[in-house]
Amino acid sequence: MSTDAIVLLKEDHKEMRRLFKAFQDAEEGPASQRQKLVDQILEALTVHTYLENEVMYPEVRRLLPDLEDDILESYEEHHVADVLCAELAAMDADDERFTAKTTVLIENVTHHVEEEEQEWFPKVRDALGRKQLQEIGEKMIALRADAPRTPTAPKAIKKAMDAVTA
Ligand SMILES: [Fe+2]
Ligand SMILES: [Fe+2]
Repeated sequence: MSTDAIVLLKEDHKEMRRLFKAFQDAEEGPASQRQKLVDQILEALTVHTYLENEVMYPEVRRLLPDLEDDILESYEEHHVADVLCAELAAMDADDERFTAKTTVLIENVTHHVEEEEQEWFPKVRDALGRKQLQEIGEKMIALRADAPRTPTAPKAIKKAMDAVTA
């Protein structure tokens, strides 16, 4: 298994895209199925943004100051997603706004992931060595077990606050 940070993050992105598609396919289906998928989406996003906020983003910012604007924009995009995730976590699938809010979350995150993968991950890949990317990946693997799994977990809320005040 690769420990390369970008490989690991792209694997998470792939799983998110799978869940997003499953939700879109289930849009007309029973509320219980949409609820289950949204629970999975919220968990995947909470873990992933935590690892990026705690490890990937600060490391890239430290090592590659030229990418600071990309990192700052990414923190803001995470914050928007955090707010939507927290709202969805407090909502039932039969709420009339549930699907609309999930759709907006999916649109936002899809845009964000495209920017990561197409705009600044390639610059990170070019600028950092394989060893550095493996070290960052190892830090994320180590932190994963301790990552919050729901948007309302204390660590997730602290992360959301750090993202706007850092
Ligand atoms: Fe991100
Ligand atoms: Fe990401």
